[in-house]
Order: sequence, then structure tokens, then C-alpha cells
Amino acid sequence: MVRLPWVLLGCTLPVVNSNVISALGAVLSHGEVRGQLARLNATVGGRLYTAIPWELPCFSEYNGESVTPDEDACAAIQANYTSPFERTQHFGTYMISQWSTCQAKRPAGECLLNVSNPEDPAAFTGVDCELGDIPSYYIDVQCPTDVQAAIAFSKLTGIRLSVKNKGHDYKGRSGGKGTLALWVANLNSISHDELFVPEGCTTSYDALTIGPGANTEDIFEYVDSINRTFIGGYHQTIGAGGGYFLGGGHSVLSPVYGLAADRVVQVKVVTPEGLYLVANECQNSDLFFSLRGGGGSAFGVVFESTHRLEPQVTLQVASIGFTGHSNTSNLAQWYSLLVNETYKWGTEGWGGHITGPALIYVTPLLSNAEANASMQATADFALAQGGTAVVEEMPSYLAFFSKYVPTAEVAVGTEITLGTRLISSELFNTTDGRAVIAKTIENVLSFTSPYVVVGTPFLYDYTPGSTSVTPAWYDSLWHLGLHGSWAWNSTAEYIADQYTAISQHIQTFRDITPGSGAYFNEGDVYEPDHTDAYWGSNYAKLLSVKQKYDPDGVFDCWQFGWKGASDPLYECFIPLPQS
Ligand SMILES: Cc1cc2nc3c(=O)[nH]c(=O)nc-3n(C[C@H](O)[C@H](O)[C@H](O)COP(=O)(O)OP(=O)(O)OC[C@H]3O[C@@H](n4cnc5c(N)ncnc54)[C@H](O)[C@@H]3O)c2cc1C
Ligand SMILES: *[C@@H]1O[C@H](CO)[C@@H](O)[C@H](O)[C@H]1NC(C)=O
Ligand SMILES: *[C@@H]1O[C@H](CO)[C@@H](O)[C@H](O)[C@H]1NC(C)=O
Ligand SMILES: *[C@@H]1O[C@H](CO)[C@@H](O)[C@H](O)[C@H]1NC(C)=O
Ligand SMILES: *[C@@H]1O[C@H](CO)[C@@H](O)[C@H](O)[C@H]1NC(C)=O
Ligand SMILES: *[C@@H]1O[C@H](CO)[C@@H](O)[C@H](O)[C@H]1NC(C)=O
Ligand SMILES: *[C@@H]1O[C@H](CO)[C@@H](O)[C@H](O)[C@H]1NC(C)=O
Ligand SMILES: *[C@@H]1O[C@H](CO)[C@@H](O)[C@H](O)[C@H]1NC(C)=O
Ligand SMILES: *[C@@H]1O[C@H](CO)[C@@H](O)[C@H](O)[C@H]1NC(C)=O
Ligand SMILES: *[C@@H]1O[C@H](CO)[C@@H](O)[C@H](O)[C@H]1NC(C)=O
Repeated sequence: MVRLPWVLLGCTLPVVNSNVISALGAVLSHGEVRGQLARLNATVGGRLYTAIPWELPCFSEYNGESVTPDEDACAAIQANYTSPFERTQHFGTYMISQWSTCQAKRPAGECLLNVSNPEDPAAFTGVDCELGDIPSYYIDVQCPTDVQAAIAFSKLTGIRLSVKNKGHDYKGRSGGKGTLALWVANLNSISHDELFVPEGCTTSYDALTIGPGANTEDIFEYVDSINRTFIGGYHQTIGAGGGYFLGGGHSVLSPVYGLAADRVVQVKVVTPEGLYLVANECQNSDLFFSLRGGGGSAFGVVFESTHRLEPQVTLQVASIGFTGHSNTSNLAQWYSLLVNETYKWGTEGWGGHITGPALIYVTPLLSNAEANASMQATADFALAQGGTAVVEEMPSYLAFFSKYVPTAEVAVGTEITLGTRLISSELFNTTDGRAVIAKTIENVLSFTSPYVVVGTPFLYDYTPGSTSVTPAWYDSLWHLGLHGSWAWNSTAEYIADQYTAISQHIQTFRDITPGSGAYFNEGDVYEPDHTDAYWGSNYAKLLSVKQKYDPDGVFDCWQFGWKGASDPLYECFIPLPQS
């Protein structure tokens, strides 16, 4: 087995890739679970913690027992309840709040504040705070040996493992009732090498190496300071080097520069068998393929990943919209116009987001005059509705991001479900196809307005078979989504109805795009035929690689390489039909 040099500061145990699990198992094996936990804690340098819900200081009852609220701590949480930065600092919370709760037990099994008004005392007065789907224990991971010790511990005790990074997941894949979690958010290094050569290869890349916990916004700021562009997501705190690229990773620049999974050139990972491996095109290439879209923690715990950079780019930005869309025929016309323009916009490199009656798009391929002409009809439409239209040139991606994204990004702290579909390019390319899309949108408007991400790698020169996301990504122009939500005091029945309603409405988009798919990171929790939707023709290979690297099923992931929804690991998920 390959031995890797020790690279992370403060890690004193040598990384050995042979028999490590049985060796650590022998160290941990004496006594009952409590004694084993203490030994595990010693092995990981005292970085093992008991998890508690972030909101606990507001409550006077925890798991049925009286506790003393801490008013100052509670006030600080209330003041920052919807701050994504604050949420990433605490293990016991998620961006999408239902994933810290035991949804199957609702209205019990939660410890949430009222996200619309965090000071609302009804949410925490006389309410029992419960750990919900938050793992029982977590290790603040710093060293590959931490993961090796956790795997050994899991094998000895039967206690299951989970992996949490920045907690952005829409499917609860970074939680798990009763699990021991590996919290990787503090692995947040960022470094640049303009002549990066993947180990064992000869080609060099201008590339950025990041820990999973590096904030997307910090990465954008860093690369701007070195006059480069990183192709990243539409939110400040996504873990670009974690779940984001592992599931695919779209950006408003993806139409030109590809998905995050297209751009990664090397990954260092502790596999489910406890081996610390380098995966790239030249070694462990099957693992590399799987880490480029297989999703979540199925193939182990990523310590660092290296991503190609682009030079600094000048962007054209279009921000166009109107308000007062109670007139849905108005809104239907707007979407019809956007559908009509989409294929042309695709060829011009535009990417962006459509949120009901507003869009924010960017392209690196046009001049300002060309961008104005391209957006003319859309600007005219919005202005005729009393709206606004700006088409401006920005000197860098960071300038665009700082001005537009923090106020436009998806809010956190809410409980929401998504249903999404990749809408095939060829449908936008014919009059009939466009009419079908526009009609399907019109029909759904009385229920909700689609949230459209224009972030597919439409112009990107992709090498077939290089990534494991569904190939449908490369033949689509839109990643279209419908959202449903509910409140902290909702019942399991009500929540189930929201999942079902979203699933039924997105079905109309599945029906018009046979053979297409959906984005694993941002899909229906109960996606029918999910293996085909998320991985398509890549699924068979992906599953065989999973069996090779994780024969014992150490890392279970909802919908991939799993034991199924009836696994006790998923006891907090509401049991709903899926395939
Ligand atoms: C507000 C918001 C905005 C978003 N915007 C975008 C966007 O613009 N583009 C886009 O593509 N997606 C976007 N997403 C989706 C996002 O990419 C996924 O939620 C992604 O899974 C987040 O990864 P994370 O590591 O931050 O989250 P986590 O919830 O911590 O982890 C997500 C999954 O990845 C696994 N994982 C994380 N780190 C590691 C690691 N180091 N090793 C092994 N497994 C790991 C976890 O086990 C889990 O399965 C957004 C999500 C939210 C909530
Ligand atoms: C692990 O050890 C540290 C340092 O001794 C201690 O603070 C922490 O509470 C221990 N964790 C657990 C779960 O006991
Ligand atoms: C909210 O968070 C910010 C930084 O994340 C911090 O500076 C501020 O003190 C917090 N507010 C309160 C009331 O704790
Ligand atoms: C939460 O707060 C909002 C805003 O004050 C209020 O309208 C709502 O009734 C509260 N409760 C619930 C369950 O949403
Ligand atoms: C930044 O990069 C751009 C594009 O490569 C280049 O034209 C410009 O000269 C660079 N600026 C500096 C200050 O290096
Ligand atoms: C709604 O918008 C459509 C299209 O712009 C317009 O023809 C119609 O008159 C509007 N209806 C109302 C009630 O404003
Ligand atoms: C979109 O194109 C179709 C077919 O060419 C046309 O009937 C429809 O009016 C167009 N939509 C808008 C809003 O212009
Ligand atoms: C493009 O439109 C903007 C208004 O949105 C205007 O300020 C700018 O001058 C136009 N650019 C060109 C090249 O005409
Ligand atoms: C769209 O139509 C053009 C012209 O007929 C054709 O060249 C192109 O291949 C089509 N694209 C797709 C994705 O169908
Ligand atoms: C939740 O709280 C709101 C506001 O107090 C109330 O109107 C609603 O009936 C409650 N829902 C349930 C299921 O109790």
C-alpha cells in the first residue's frame, strides 16, 4: 500500500495505509461503548464532542428533562438565526432546518425557532427541545487518522457514521440519528499553484487546492486577489470542496466553464476501508470518476480537492424584473418569452437564475453592446410592466458576486423541499418544444413559480465518461425547480403533503423530458426512479466502484449505495413511496 507524507499541521499520528483499521480497533476494543468512546476521544486528540441542537439555549426542556435557558446565548442565536455564516460555525444546525429534526415524529422531535420571527416565544416556550436527526457525537476532523479511528470504532460498536461539512444539504445526507459524525468544516485551507501537476501525471494546471470547509465566498475573494476566477456556486457558504463538487456543482459560469465535477483534477480522500488515497486521472481513476458526481460521502471523506482556475474575466450582467405579479397571465408571458430566448442565450454563454418575475444572468462571451441587444426584448417586457432592467459590465466575477449574490441567494433556516428537472436543450430548439415548456410552466403557476437555474454545461467541451453525474446535464439548458415549505410546528402529515405536492407538480416536467434527469444535490428527496434520474448510464459503473471501495457499506448515503429507506438510519425520514 502507498504511504502518504503527513501534510496537515497538528496531526501527530503517522498515516499508515495497512491494517490500520484492525490496529485501531484493538486499541479501542476494551470495555463498553462508553469506554470505547473515551478511547476514541483520546485517539482523536480530545476532539470528540457530544452534539446538541444549536437552539437549545432558548429552551427550558431538553429530551423531556428540565434545563435552564441561557438568555444571552438565545438572544445571539435569534439575532443571527438566518445568517449562513453563523450556522456554519455550529455543528448542531443545518441550512435547511427540517434536517435537524425527526420529521417522522413532528410536531415533536424538533428544536427550532420560528424562522419568520426567531423571537416568537411560541416556538420555545413549553416545547421540548429534541436532538432530532442531529448525530449523537461528532469529531472535529483535522487528521486522516481521525477518520480511520472513527471507521474502526464503527466496525467495533456497530455505531453508524455520517459526514457533515457546511450543512447545506437538501436531503439530510449530512445528518443521521444515532450516528457518530465526522465534521469536516474546519478543514478550510485554500492554496494556489499555477503549475499544479496531479500526482503521477505530467499535465499541469493553474489550480486551487481547498479543504472541504473553505467558504465559497472566501474562495472568490482569494482568487480575485491573485487575478483568477473560480467557478463556484450562488451562495456565500457552500462547501465548494465538499458536497458541492461531489454531487456535480453548478455555477452561473457553468454554461461556459463546466460543472465543478468537470473542473476538479485531484481529490485526497480517506476511503471507507480507511485508506488515505490520491484520486486523479492517473491513479485510482475509478474512484476519481466516482467522486466527480457520485455524491455525498459514499466514497469516503474528502480532505482536499484541487480545481482548475480561469483567468480574471470581464462579465456582462443582466438584472431584469418586475413586481406585482398577481397577474399570472403576465407571469406566464414572461416565462414564455424567456423560454423563447433560452436557446439563443445558451449559445451566447449566458448563465443565471430566474426567480419568478426576475432574472439575474451573466456571460463572459459578449460585449456590453451585444449583451444589451441580446436582452432587449426581455428588458422591454419588464419595463412595460413597470419593472427595471440593467445590463452592465463588471470587471470580475467577485465584483458581480459582491454586488448581486448576497441579496439574491436562497435564504437559510427555512424548511423546504425541492422537486427539480433538467430541461433538455433540444426542447428549447423547436417551436413545438418551446410551446410545451411554456404551457407546462403556465399550468404550474397557480401552485408556485418555478425557480430556474441556468447553470448546465451547455457550451462546455466535456469528455464523455469523465464525470459520474447523469449525462443529461450536458444536454440541458435549464435546471428547473419547484419549492414547498412549512413551519416549525407542522405535523408529519402536513410535511408529507408538501413533499407529495411538489413531487406531483414536478412530475409534469418529468413527463415532457423523457430520458432526462435531475441534480442529485438539489432533487426531490423521494425522486421516483432516482438512480436513472441522478446518474443515468453512469449508475452501473458507479455502483461497482462503490462495492469495490466500500464492500461493508460503512458510508451509507440516502439513495446511493444504501440499504434502502427502511434502514433504521433513516428512521427520521417520513416514509413515502419512491423507487
Ligand atoms: C442556500 C443554498 C444554496 C445552494 N446553491 C447551490 C449552487 O449555486 N450550486 C450548486 O451546485 N449547489 C447549490 N446548493 C446545493 C449544494 O451544492 C449541496 O447542498 C451540497 O451538498 C452542499 O455541500 P456541503 O458540503 O456544503 O453540505 P453538507 O450538508 O455538509 O454535505 C452535503 C453532502 O456531502 C457530503 N460531504 C460534505 N463534505 C464531505 C467531505 N469532505 N467528504 C465526504 N463527504 C462530504 C455529506 O456527507 C453530505 O452527503 C445550495 C444549497 C443551499 C442550501
Ligand atoms: C473528549 O475530550 C475532551 C478533552 O479532554 C473533552 O473536553 C471532551 O468533553 C471529551 N468528549 C467526550 C464526548 O467526552
Ligand atoms: C451575529 O454574527 C456576527 C458574525 O457572524 C457576529 O459578529 C455578531 O456578534 C452576531 N450577533 C449576535 C447578536 O451575536
Ligand atoms: C411565525 O412568525 C410569523 C411572523 O411573525 C407569524 O406570522 C407566524 O404565525 C409564526 N408562527 C408560525 C407557526 O409560523
Ligand atoms: C489579470 O489577468 C488578466 C487576464 O489574464 C490580465 O489581462 C491582467 O493583465 C492581469 N492583471 C494583473 C494586475 O496582473
Ligand atoms: C395581465 O397581463 C396580461 C399580459 O401582460 C395583460 O394582457 C392583461 O390585461 C393583464 N390583466 C390584468 C387584470 O391586469
Ligand atoms: C414565444 O414564441 C411563440 C412561438 O413562436 C409565440 O407564439 C409566443 O407568443 C412567444 N412568446 C412571447 C412572450 O413572445
Ligand atoms: C447597455 O445598456 C445599459 C442600460 O442597461 C446602458 O447604460 C449602456 O450604455 C448600454 N451599453 C451600450 C454599449 O449601449
Ligand atoms: C438546434 O437546432 C440547430 C439548427 O437546426 C441544430 O444545428 C442543433 O444541433 C440543434 N441543437 C440541439 C441541441 O438539438
Ligand atoms: C402553528 O402555529 C400557527 C401560529 O400560531 C397556528 O396558526 C397553526 O395552527 C399551528 N399549526 C399547528 C399544526 O399546530
